[in-house]
Amino acid sequence: MAEGTAPAPPIRVDAISRRFGRTLALDGVSFEVRDREFFALLGPNGAGKTTLLHILCTVLRPDSGQALIRGLDVVRQPLAARRLLGIVFQEASLDDRLTVRENLDLHGLVFGVPGALRRRRIDEMLALVELTAWADRTTRTLSSGMKRRLEIARALIHDSEILLLDEPTAGLDAQSRERIWSYIRRLRGERHITVLVTTHYIEEVEGCDRVCIVDRGRVLALDAPETLKRTHGGQMLRIVPRGDDDRRAILGRFADRLKGEAGDAILLASDDAFVEAFLADCGRRIRSMTVEIPSLETVFLTLTGRALRDQSAGESERTRAFGRRGGEHTR
Ligand SMILES: Nc1ncnc2c1ncn2[C@@H]1O[C@H](COP(=O)(O)OP(=O)(O)OP(=O)(O)O)[C@@H](O)[C@H]1O
Ligand SMILES: [Mg+2]
Repeated sequence: MAEGTAPAPPIRVDAISRRFGRTLALDGVSFEVRDREFFALLGPNGAGKTTLLHILCTVLRPDSGQALIRGLDVVRQPLAARRLLGIVFQEASLDDRLTVRENLDLHGLVFGVPGALRRRRIDEMLALVELTAWADRTTRTLSSGMKRRLEIARALIHDSEILLLDEPTAGLDAQSRERIWSYIRRLRGERHITVLVTTHYIEEVEGCDRVCIVDRGRVLALDAPETLKRTHGGQMLRIVPRGDDDRRAILGRFADRLKGEAGDAILLASDDAFVEAFLADCGRRIRSMTVEIPSLETVFLTLTGRALRDQSAGESERTRAFGRRGGEHTR
């Protein structure tokens, strides 16, 4: 893939570890993001996603290991590395008292984008995220989704070639989420940028080029969604037994296939041959049965032994408790 004179990859992370007191937030994380890739970091809350992004964007130092942005060491050459990056932080970081345009202008100033160019970029970016009509409004009056769009626009004012987005859609309604993703996809097509995005919404990473699944500070798997499903997904049978005796019988008989239990249902690792064998054996013991095709959900379950959805529920609770993303939409 890489040719003799190919530039350094947009992002390279090599054995990064980082501790907060007794918490090992990152435990030897390594991966490389390819040119113009749409790369997702998927993991439950506390997985270490934000810690890693903070290291990449030079606001936090790793305890050990190295992170490179186009070959620039984020610890030794933070300013040069930072110039290549557009960042959307997990926590809202706009100045609510400024207008939409002023927020963008300020960012351009900080990054030394000259006046005329700055004005042009601001107009371009406002158009991209469909906020032109809102340019002179005070940022405080924007909805949560609009603020998120403004943050994406801001990340691109200094012509960054690598976009880091930390949970860009967390806490937004489905329509706003879809809109954000469509901007990101369009950007990637039009401006040839590399995108690294973190999320804990599994359905959102289906369209990414590659997904890196992280849990407890470690990389569990990294590949294209389809490959992950083929390798780790496996087919599953979701069975609801008729009664308690039936449940016990099935659990006893198929303990080695047990993937988990979800409410009334039992989840068993399966394949086409097994479905028939199971029905012949236990058909009369079940109330219902669904064959679940491999999904990133089952990949996550296989790799971690837990469902990501349960974690996400906890996450929204925490978001609410700490009011991390502007309180008004987390009710
Ligand atoms: N400044 C800090 N001080 C103490 N502990 C921290 C700090 N930042 C992160 N941690 C801990 O490090 C671990 C990883 O946190 P991190 O925020 O990187 O996870 P995350 O994957 O971004 O989670 P989320 O989905 O909730 O955003 C967690 O256990 C967290 O409590
Ligand atoms: Mg985070």
